[in-house]
Amino acid sequence: MAKHNVVFSFLVSLFLASLIPLVCDATKSGDESNKLHIVYMGSLPKEASYSPSSHHLSLLQHVVDGSDIENRLVQSYKRSFNGFAVVLNDQQREKLVGMKGVVSVFPSQESWDFLGLPQSFKRDQTIESGLVIGVIDSGIWPESESFNDKGLAPITKKWRGVCDGGVNFSCNKKIIGARFYAVGDVSARDKFGHGTHTSSIVGGREVNDVSFYGLANGIARGGIPSSRITAYKSCNDFGTCTNDAILAAFDDAIADGVDVITISLGAHNAIDFLSDSISIGSFHAMENGILTVHSVGNTGPVPSSVCSVSPWLFSVAATTTDRKFIDKIILGNGQTFIGKSINTIPSNDTKFSIAVHNAQACPIRGNASPEKCDCMEKNMVKGKLVLSGSPSGQLFSFTSGAIGVILNASQYDFDASLVTKNLTLKLESKDFVQVQYYKNSTSYPVAEILKSEIFHDTGAPRIISAPGVEILTAYSPLNSPSMDISDNRKVKYTILSGTSMSCPHAAGVVGYVKSFHPDWSPAAIKSAIMTTTTPVKGTYDDLVGEFAYGSGNINPKQAIEPGLVYDITKQDYVQMLCNYGYSAEKIKQISGDNSSCHGTSERSLVKDINYPAIVVPILKHLHVKVHRTVTNVGFPNSTYKATLIHRNPEIMISVEREVLSFKSLNEKQSFVVNVVGGEKLNQTLFSSSLVWSDGTHNVKSPIIVHISL
Ligand SMILES: *[C@@H]1O[C@H](CO)[C@@H](O)[C@H](O)[C@H]1NC(C)=O
Ligand SMILES: *[C@@H]1O[C@H](CO)[C@@H](O)[C@H](O)[C@H]1NC(C)=O
Ligand SMILES: *[C@@H]1O[C@H](CO)[C@@H](O)[C@H](O)[C@H]1NC(C)=O
Ligand SMILES: *[C@@H]1O[C@H](CO)[C@@H](O)[C@H](O)[C@H]1NC(C)=O
Ligand SMILES: *[C@@H]1O[C@H](CO)[C@@H](O)[C@H](O)[C@H]1NC(C)=O
Ligand SMILES: *[C@@H]1O[C@H](CO)[C@@H](O)[C@H](O)[C@H]1NC(C)=O
Ligand SMILES: *[C@@H]1O[C@H](CO)[C@@H](O)[C@H](O)[C@H]1NC(C)=O
Ligand SMILES: *[C@@H]1O[C@H](CO)[C@@H](O)[C@H](O)[C@H]1NC(C)=O
Repeated sequence: MAKHNVVFSFLVSLFLASLIPLVCDATKSGDESNKLHIVYMGSLPKEASYSPSSHHLSLLQHVVDGSDIENRLVQSYKRSFNGFAVVLNDQQREKLVGMKGVVSVFPSQESWDFLGLPQSFKRDQTIESGLVIGVIDSGIWPESESFNDKGLAPITKKWRGVCDGGVNFSCNKKIIGARFYAVGDVSARDKFGHGTHTSSIVGGREVNDVSFYGLANGIARGGIPSSRITAYKSCNDFGTCTNDAILAAFDDAIADGVDVITISLGAHNAIDFLSDSISIGSFHAMENGILTVHSVGNTGPVPSSVCSVSPWLFSVAATTTDRKFIDKIILGNGQTFIGKSINTIPSNDTKFSIAVHNAQACPIRGNASPEKCDCMEKNMVKGKLVLSGSPSGQLFSFTSGAIGVILNASQYDFDASLVTKNLTLKLESKDFVQVQYYKNSTSYPVAEILKSEIFHDTGAPRIISAPGVEILTAYSPLNSPSMDISDNRKVKYTILSGTSMSCPHAAGVVGYVKSFHPDWSPAAIKSAIMTTTTPVKGTYDDLVGEFAYGSGNINPKQAIEPGLVYDITKQDYVQMLCNYGYSAEKIKQISGDNSSCHGTSERSLVKDINYPAIVVPILKHLHVKVHRTVTNVGFPNSTYKATLIHRNPEIMISVEREVLSFKSLNEKQSFVVNVVGGEKLNQTLFSSSLVWSDGTHNVKSPIIVHISL
């Protein structure tokens, strides 16, 4: 159950995250004896005579009994990068770690939790229908209407994948490929629902009159409806995904020839680059020109909550759309309050008694069992609406047979309306206290909770990067919409929230941009999307705004005409890894070529990677220079002027070369951002932004100054 809770906690977008080295702590896994491990070996050697399989076996022969190898070797990665998945005990692992050719060894039994629609733009249908989106997730429900192939052109010739979906699974011209990797799976069919949902967001066809119990009626449509989808099922039917299966999916997707990869799963914590299957897989995708779009984690907006930190990934958060689900509660005295819930049950004027759950007196979360907890008899809440001041009270109430719970929304990080099995209404603290007053004021407090309604939210979008909150799309009919196993409702369309949902949306935009600029590098596409965002509305103060919403809200129309891009080559990323301190030998192996680490000059520090966001760690008084290079993709003959917005008097920021003149397309120009800390710095984070403008294009980068003591 705890696993799924992650789905419902809120998320940050943080494109900048990649440059903040101190984000979340890595968790230590406990006993690693006889566990499935990934042995990562970097790039595939280019010599024609090289056989990955024999190399893997020969390495294993040194650490495992010959007869035992077959039982232990689970998977070989040999199409797009080099490595294998094998069951090892601690000693065997230690031995392998030190062997030549091995870059890293890390456990696979990491539980990857699942974390968490589109408009009529100018489209190039022909190019779009040549785009192949690889979705690494819980599989797909191939019969969903969203994946019909009516009217689609023949499959692109460059496609090298297969339809290997297993038992009772057919592909068509929409779902052109399928593979599955999770232990025990017999097909790529999605019994969990998540993969079907994400796939339909990125590439679902138009389906009319879709709704969830009459709510959110409308057209369901993916970001790039003419694109092709290929499903890589790396997660089992309970939503658990392992490193070995994720890496296998990357190995195949890259070799199959996908254009974009979207992956809406992740760990709770940031992990070392070389022990993170998504980081490794997406590195090799990047060197093959494929951008991987990844959800950043759902635990924000709080500091250090971003768990997607490799700069070659495109990290995405969620936002609200202009459509909000609201739900009204009417008290016995007629008072009405508006809360958040996606409640599909009509109330029929039924009023239920209100009971109270006192969290302090009844610490369910601790060791006290519900039996021992005499502060609240189960029969006190049975059949009632429970006012619960804490998340533990919610759990207790439902296991005790409550009809519904009324919650204090401030207790929850994630403020979207959710599909829940039982009635669950979140009220703002000031309204919650009113219900408490009412409850105290009468001997028979009662209330009625109405069926949810939709209202148009003019404050949207509030947080993002791509719409990820309350998105209605296709779903697996085998999982219940609340992801609660005791919920018997089965639906074809449901509403999920979280970065899982915004991630494929952003992948749709990546595909959209790529359809106009097939020759752009993954970094150039990412830069185009990041520098053309529109501001996010919200109550986050200026200080940490960018930490909550990253670069801003995606604007696909502008992203195809960014003017300038901040490009990053594979060699730049390799140099960044050098500066992180990985050994030259490992780096050579990862990159698969002769790229080696140059000495660490100031020019090659991590902050100088040519990222479209600028994060500057400085000491007080110190002067820091940040180098950037832009490439002209706008008008051949153009002049851009720099503007700095949100200047803070305590930090001096200036741009050296405030004017950049270009004579031709693809011409590069460099500039330096100078940052000097003042005397009276009393806070640790300052945000600002830099905009290059030629009068037509505005190329915007956030600047975060991080004061270290
Ligand atoms: C294949 O799967 C579909 C969808 O669950 C089901 O309706 C059909 O009966 C299955 N066919 C066979 C032969 O199992
Ligand atoms: C209202 O009536 C419908 C239809 O009979 C029923 O499904 C629903 O559960 C009822 N609502 C409540 C709150 O009992
Ligand atoms: C609420 O949840 C409990 C426990 O899962 C269940 O027994 C009860 O029937 C549910 N109530 C409603 C109205 O769905
Ligand atoms: C609601 O929760 C917030 C945050 O924990 C708390 O500050 C507030 O006092 C709560 N309101 C009520 C009425 O309990
Ligand atoms: C309601 O009554 C309870 C118990 O007497 C008390 O702890 C609480 O503060 C009261 N709340 C309000 C809002 O009156
Ligand atoms: C690396 O450099 C060596 C010596 O210059 C050369 O023989 C080799 O082919 C190069 N390897 C690759 C992969 O470029
Ligand atoms: C570029 O701009 C300059 C200055 O505005 C102008 O003199 C020149 O003719 C332009 N060149 C082209 C090719 O448009
Ligand atoms: C920091 O100092 C400025 C004035 O220099 C003041 O306006 C601001 O409130 C201070 N911030 C904090 C967090 O103390």
